[in-house]
Amino acid sequence: MIPDPFTALIILKVVHVISAALWIGSIVSLSLAVRFLRNILGSNSVKVSAELGRRLRPLTRASLYSTLASGLLLATQRGFLTDLSALLQQGSATIALAKALLGLTLLLMVNYHSALGEKVARALGPESATATRRRLIYVGWSTVGVSVALAVLGTMLRFR
Ligand code: HEM
Repeated sequence: MIPDPFTALIILKVVHVISAALWIGSIVSLSLAVRFLRNILGSNSVKVSAELGRRLRPLTRASLYSTLASGLLLATQRGFLTDLSALLQQGSATIALAKALLGLTLLLMVNYHSALGEKVARALGPESATATRRRLIYVGWSTVGVSVALAVLGTMLRFR
């Protein structure tokens, strides 16, 4: 049975908000845990942190993909991404388009972050990976920042 448009909107919104909460909650917790490990173990924390990231990946990736997919469906359902003239005239369509582009950027950042993490974990000695490790930390926290920005933009869409 296909739900009516209003029910579909409610279902998508519930999925989007719960997935977004899981995504932001898990990456913030992971970032804080990794920082804590770094403070107490120094360069020896790399292997444990990489393992932690790998083990949590089913949760982090599933919540990210679910947030992005439900977000795109929500934007389509509300007509933000389908009506080009509305896109040019309404601020709301511009916000939705910004969210779609930022969502794509986030996907690229997350994959880049994972590749950097694997590279640091594979490096021979702790010293040999210092620059990559610094970049890894920077990209990790930027991912958190972009995700929070996406949630703020979502809140702006709610009242339009
Ligand atoms: C990780 C990425 C994302 C996060 C964390 C996120 C977060 C949120 C949150 C928390 C809300 C609810 C705001 C509220 O009701 O006050 C929201 C709403 C919304 N988001 Fe996202 N979002 C993300 C990606 C996307 C993407 C890629 C799109 C596609 C354009 C999108 C489209 C929407 C739309 C259309 C709404 C408004 C729903 C409504 O009120 O009907 N989101 N988002």
